[in-house]
Amino acid sequence: CSYKSISNVLKASQIGEEISIQGWVKSVRKQKNVTFCDINDGSTVKHLQVVLQDKSNIKITVGSSVQAFGTVCKSPKGVNEIEAKNITVIGECDIEKGYPFAPRKQYAPEYIREYLHLRPKTKKFSSVLRVRHGATLAFHNYLDRNGYVCVQTPILTSNDCEGAGEVFKVVPDNNNLLKSMAKENVNIEDAYFDKKSFLTVSGQLHLETAAHALKQVYCFGPAFRAENSQSRHHLSEFYMLELEKAFLTSLDNLLEITEDLIKGVTKHLLDRYTDDIYVCTENKHNFSWVDKKFKVLTYFEAADIVTNKLSKPLKYKGAFSKEHELALTEYFENIPVFVINWPKLEKPFYMKEIEDSNVAAFDLLVPQIGELVGGSLREDNYEKLQSRLPPNHYLDWYLDLRKFGNVPTGGFGLGFERYIQFILGMHNIKDSIPFPRWPHNCDF
Ligand code: 4AD
Ligand code: MG
Repeated sequence: CSYKSISNVLKASQIGEEISIQGWVKSVRKQKNVTFCDINDGSTVKHLQVVLQDKSNIKITVGSSVQAFGTVCKSPKGVNEIEAKNITVIGECDIEKGYPFAPRKQYAPEYIREYLHLRPKTKKFSSVLRVRHGATLAFHNYLDRNGYVCVQTPILTSNDCEGAGEVFKVVPDNNNLLKSMAKENVNIEDAYFDKKSFLTVSGQLHLETAAHALKQVYCFGPAFRAENSQSRHHLSEFYMLELEKAFLTSLDNLLEITEDLIKGVTKHLLDRYTDDIYVCTENKHNFSWVDKKFKVLTYFEAADIVTNKLSKPLKYKGAFSKEHELALTEYFENIPVFVINWPKLEKPFYMKEIEDSNVAAFDLLVPQIGELVGGSLREDNYEKLQSRLPPNHYLDWYLDLRKFGNVPTGGFGLGFERYIQFILGMHNIKDSIPFPRWPHNCDF
């Protein structure tokens, strides 16, 4: 017979229906002749109680995988449960053999992180995975509904889009290839693509090519940063949602798109993933911002507030530290803040220059996290762009966009894990992604 998902059994099964289910045991209580098991199969945060009139004395331990067959009935609390005819243990799970999570114990995220391969079995992390899934679909659906086309941009690239020198270099590890290259005196860094190649830090420049023909495009893929950071906000590998729009002349318009996207996706998640969000946030999280207008202030105004009102002067002209970012959102009572019009020297070459050596750029700062999104209008003046390209670039193709059917464009990149961290009120970004990578941590 076919197996029903537990979410279905809890929601839709009829009393008296005979069904089979599969899952993992989350708790067991034995009385003299009856065993109660709570079973979860990942389809919902909720467990299904399976009751077995137990004559066989079957050994069922927490964590083991089981299948059960029986009749749906109502528990005294009015919830669907199963009166089991039988339960079969498929794979045992024994604390004595080293299973790291004892029943009914709470563990710190740092401890759970030592077992990334078993982490999806914890209640919170399975909720995180479902919310990640829901958020992924919600971003795609929102953008599809609004006329954006999803474009795949490369992971291997010869450019460092952000120019921050935080790229991972890619070199071949193929003995035959390396031997033949050595004979020809080819540098290992140029051995495969004939020039240095990197893991992408951003799909933006490639995405812009598609914007120049399809008008509204986005990409959603991994990005890599070789930052020597142990911070709770940085990963070496993370997912970024990037959007580009052609015929875009106003930064305000880009802010509106960003704000509407974030609010739309978040409202959908609050509606659809209520239980999972509750498990992660324990209802301590404040979502009142979804109904409020985000603040907008210029870089100059923001710098003035942190320096003069918050007594946290900028260390050198330009950069906001994480501390500044968090203080600013706190100052605005936990409403997200767009900081716009940044000094040109602070930002990458592709941003559009405006008056006073500023660029038409924005960072969106959100409570507890700081920067969630970075975006800008793009420099569409051929000569200006040419003069700002980094030395030894391989970006003549990028310049061509401004030569053939040039239009004003703009876009942004949103850090997906920071978004998950934000809405789930997570302290550490490493708990928002199945396999976090950070310096010295790539074991699993
Ligand atoms: O501000 P960033 O560096 O912007 C870009 O890469 C642009 N090319 C995007 C664009 O305009 N298409 O990165 C964008 C976002 C940040 O705001 C942050 O949320 C996230 O990516 N991010 C990181 N997330 C986790 N770990 C890291 N090391 C991150 N670095 C950036
Ligand atoms: Mg940025």
